[in-house]
Amino acid sequence: MTAEMTRPELGVCYYPEQWPEAQWADDARRMRELGLDWVRVGEFAWSMIEPAPGRFEWDWLDRAIDVLGAAGLKVIMSTPTAAPPRWLVDKHPEILPVGPDGNVRKFGSRRHYCFSSPVFRGEAARIAEAVAERYGTHEHVAAWQIDNEYGDHDTIHSYSPAARDAFRDWLARRYGDIGALNTAWGTSFWSMRYDDFAQIELPNQMVEEPTPTQLTDFLRFSSDQVQSFNRMQAEILRKHAPGRAITHNFMNQNEDFDHHAVGADLDVASWDAYPLGNLVHGRLPEADKQRLLRHGDPDQPGFNHDLYRGVGNGRMWVMEQQPGPVNWADANPAPADGMVRLWTWLAHAHGCEMVSYFRWRQAPFAQEQFHTGLLLPDSTPDRAFAEIEEVVAEAAALPALPPRAPSEVALVLDYPSRWALSALPQGRNFRAGHHALDWYSALRRLGIDVDIVGQHTELNGYRLVVAPDLVMADAGFIKRIAASDTKAIFGPRSGSRTEAMHVTAPLPGAGLAPLIELRVTRVESLPDWHSESFLMGNASHAARRWRETIESDAEVLATFEGAYREGTPALVGNDRARYLATLPGDEGLRHVLEDTLRWAGVDTLPDLGPDLRLTRRGNVTFAFNFGCEPAAAPAPPEATFHLGAARIPPAGVAAWSET
Ligand code: GLA
Ligand code: GLA
Repeated sequence: MTAEMTRPELGVCYYPEQWPEAQWADDARRMRELGLDWVRVGEFAWSMIEPAPGRFEWDWLDRAIDVLGAAGLKVIMSTPTAAPPRWLVDKHPEILPVGPDGNVRKFGSRRHYCFSSPVFRGEAARIAEAVAERYGTHEHVAAWQIDNEYGDHDTIHSYSPAARDAFRDWLARRYGDIGALNTAWGTSFWSMRYDDFAQIELPNQMVEEPTPTQLTDFLRFSSDQVQSFNRMQAEILRKHAPGRAITHNFMNQNEDFDHHAVGADLDVASWDAYPLGNLVHGRLPEADKQRLLRHGDPDQPGFNHDLYRGVGNGRMWVMEQQPGPVNWADANPAPADGMVRLWTWLAHAHGCEMVSYFRWRQAPFAQEQFHTGLLLPDSTPDRAFAEIEEVVAEAAALPALPPRAPSEVALVLDYPSRWALSALPQGRNFRAGHHALDWYSALRRLGIDVDIVGQHTELNGYRLVVAPDLVMADAGFIKRIAASDTKAIFGPRSGSRTEAMHVTAPLPGAGLAPLIELRVTRVESLPDWHSESFLMGNASHAARRWRETIESDAEVLATFEGAYREGTPALVGNDRARYLATLPGDEGLRHVLEDTLRWAGVDTLPDLGPDLRLTRRGNVTFAFNFGCEPAAAPAPPEATFHLGAARIPPAGVAAWSET
């Protein structure tokens, strides 16, 4: 892959096993003619590759790869472990996952395996090795995808006997002796004391909630199982496919495992971009959803590009890009004409190296009949086809751009902190994933480019770290910030729990010492139908969903208003860090962050509004209009436009350089 690019390389997800062989060559030729460079195959092909135990049928796949390769396409081969064959389930029913209700989940769709099943791990290693041996050094196979979308269909947490046994072993390794577990879990609380690790059950089907430490341990354990499963496959691929990029296609906003940890074993992080389904299920109020129905949340794709660029250590692909309506959301609207082009250029601007569309041809059979592709079922082009042609043609006018430079601002997404919040939510509307996107959105409206990082990430050069929900602040991370020139702002609940899911001592907030001294003396969750307010300067802003009473020797920068505890601090800060004690609405968040960015020495633009987004790659500024009205590109008069012009139509894109 070249470092400097005028556009991302392009690709498509293709299923030769779903189409007559006579069609393959024509499909491959048309892919190339369209300008596609990559084709992903094989992720659900296990039973076609190995129709009976140990009996392999490679011929069809050999021919498919040859046809695709001969047309000039680079193949992304997949390990097919997301769809174990029926014969394997018949032979070893114990590989099936068990749901939280205690019921075994059945064969008949996909992802029907338990990460803890030793039998399944053995089988997964066996099939991965077989495929890797066969195609590892194949001239046309240039990259590998492991499995498919870990976590899709709620499949990270299994309550099987195998998971229970593995959890007990994991706990024994973590705690060493049962006394330490009793202390950590606080089993004196309801007489839950254990004498032996062998007595421990999984945290489902209990009368009342389990101790949050048991829950967060189970979530950590489940994440570790994914990580080790993925690493096992990555090691097999490294052995047999030297020099080929290894990736996994992450499902955006899945919080059930640590994506940073899994990413550490990959060469490239890829993610699957379905902005409209996400809008329907997403964070925005209904009025915004109506306006953006065919355009999507302007910040959802950017957030994920910035996240997976970090997860992939700078290297990020989109493995599946929505080409039209999909089949799986509560409602499945069509993207406005132009959005596939917009999403493709957006990915490029955020540093994406490759965009692959899902899927080549709409399938007239099986589960995803309503899912569009680049072609209609009769092989005539659907709308996205023309938009890809447009991208390819437009690239000629763009300068080659280097990979994205690090941003000045980093937003922290810490998965264990999310698990802490799910173990003790304290308010059903405390949805950290939505809140983090709100913070990101506020930064983006101010024209700020953002890196999304974990607590392990180097701070090199960041002027500001933004941590909306860092419940389990890591002492090492806080010390590193304290020892650097980086400033930080933390959202409510940050630094409030230890890794053992106990309150930090002496009080919540202590986890942020030595950056900022803080004592949270009361927290409350607030229902959606109620809003309070805080005063910052002369502006009064909404305070929603969560409110804390805090004491700190830091300066008070904003205070709560209203009858209840008027004048108590809503925002405090010293010269290193700030802490926000509530969840503001859009305007309040923008005010807080704009002030904080200025304090950290980061230049902002005037508010871009809800629908226009800017991002920079190299010396080119890209602007994306997610709205339904034309927007003005905030380009200087002497700017040279490479794409579009100063007036950006709805679903339009502009890109310019300043001389
Ligand atoms: C996911 C899966 C694909 C397909 C698409 C449909 O991303 O990885 O196999 O089911 O959803 O949108
Ligand atoms: C009930 C129980 C208590 C405690 C409270 C919490 O009253 O009896 O043990 O759980 O609820 O409010």
